Amino acid sequence: MTAPWWKTGVVYQIYPRSFLDTDGDGVGDLEGVRRRLDHLAWLGVDAIWLSPVFRSPMKDFGYDVADYCDVDPLFGTLADLDRLIADAHARGIRLLLDWVPNHTSDRHPWFVESRGSRTSPKRDWYWWRDPAPDGGPPNDWKGAFPPDIDAWTFDESTRQFYLHQFLPEQPDLNWENPEVVRAMHDVLRFWLDRGVDGFRIDVAHGIGKDPALPDEAPGWHGIPHAALNEHPSTHAYLRAIRTLADAYPGDRVLVGEVYQLFVRAHERYFGRNDELHLAFDLPAAIATPWEADAWRDRIADVAARLDPIGAWPTWVLSNHDTPRHHTRFGSEARARAAAVLLLTLRGTPFLYAGEEIGLEDAQVPRDRRVDPGGRDGCRAPIPWDASPTHGWPSEDAWLPWPPDAPTRNVERLRADETSIMHLYRRLLAARRASPALREGSLTLLDAPDGVLAYERRARGERFVVLVNFTREAVPCEISGRVVLSSAGTDPGRSDVLAPDEAVLVACGSSS
Ligand code: NOJ
Repeated sequence: MTAPWWKTGVVYQIYPRSFLDTDGDGVGDLEGVRRRLDHLAWLGVDAIWLSPVFRSPMKDFGYDVADYCDVDPLFGTLADLDRLIADAHARGIRLLLDWVPNHTSDRHPWFVESRGSRTSPKRDWYWWRDPAPDGGPPNDWKGAFPPDIDAWTFDESTRQFYLHQFLPEQPDLNWENPEVVRAMHDVLRFWLDRGVDGFRIDVAHGIGKDPALPDEAPGWHGIPHAALNEHPSTHAYLRAIRTLADAYPGDRVLVGEVYQLFVRAHERYFGRNDELHLAFDLPAAIATPWEADAWRDRIADVAARLDPIGAWPTWVLSNHDTPRHHTRFGSEARARAAAVLLLTLRGTPFLYAGEEIGLEDAQVPRDRRVDPGGRDGCRAPIPWDASPTHGWPSEDAWLPWPPDAPTRNVERLRADETSIMHLYRRLLAARRASPALREGSLTLLDAPDGVLAYERRARGERFVVLVNFTREAVPCEISGRVVLSSAGTDPGRSDVLAPDEAVLVACGSSS
């Protein structure tokens, strides 16, 4: 098979602040990631995506970048990152960085210079506009957070507003300016030359803006502009980035965060196989409830959008912006069944660190909340063992531990062959060993109410996956050998699906 690794592989997202601290400041670091590469190799993932580790004032915990070409001291040094890349590669694990092209930090030297005067050579690197006639912002766009914030902030010294789709400390870059394009391309080259295998692109759909800056369309007032922004110019920017990445050897990949409310059209961002290689389809991806019909519709919808253009889907259940799926779906049994689903669908699965141990969101008391977007719960530190500090150097991690950390931790679950972590490992191994699961066709099958069934097929190999979304046992004809069940290590064969059970059934060869 000649499919690139990013089609057949599985990507593991690391939120570096929460993975593992090694220097005792309560915040995870690159050395912490490096020391746990063996865990990732044991699990069997193909690549890691690091949420941003660049220099940052951390107003949005790294998504406010002050220097795209250096590592924040909180996480280590450039040399630490080089070492992590080399050590990951030595284990056959690729590494993606998180590139934030839509906005910088307000402390980035580009913005500091831009803000300096109306005649600054970098003034036009950002979106500066005069106040509206009433003295208010130039239009009615809203920022993403905190709630109900304007997407414009007035700068007293130069008497103009600047645009920010997120925090005021995250001014939007003006990609209409070719100097911005050049500078950001240089950033990509800087990292590709250092050997990174690609990028997750933050707010990929939001880079281009309508230069007329019109008010929102009727009915969209008050919704964060970042979730509505769909300007056609973005596609040309993405094509140029794709050309740049494809000029490098080794299948470098661009995975874009496409986050659309109301307009559901993430397929636009693949272009004619000349824009993104992969795209997240948010929030749909993480908003699908734990219901058979909802998943059936979603799988059909993704195929209907992507198959005609030859684009490859992504599947994701959790990330650093959303409550974890164990918390959303409400039980470990469901988190286990969801793992079977995630890792047997047609497309590239993305795991979020900690889901392999079935983490739930932490309960974060008010006085410990730090995120302006209210996303602290899913960013709780990973418990590595049962000790009071859970493998971290001190108990004082930047956020509280997730629930059950004394029992739900990597060391404990590794010792238990029936744990969810072993289930993930077996699923990853099954996927790796099977052309049908990695890159075969997917056909939805008829199934009893509350059960989702589909077939994966390639090169004469055939699997059926059955997922029982109900809390009842469901009689079900299982014609084949159950090779894996979410409910236990030795599923044997039966004609009934247990409550919340998902099974992988080998159906022998076909042609
Ligand atoms: C999407 C990222 O996932 C999120 O964490 C961040 O706050 C925004 N983009 C702004 O960069």
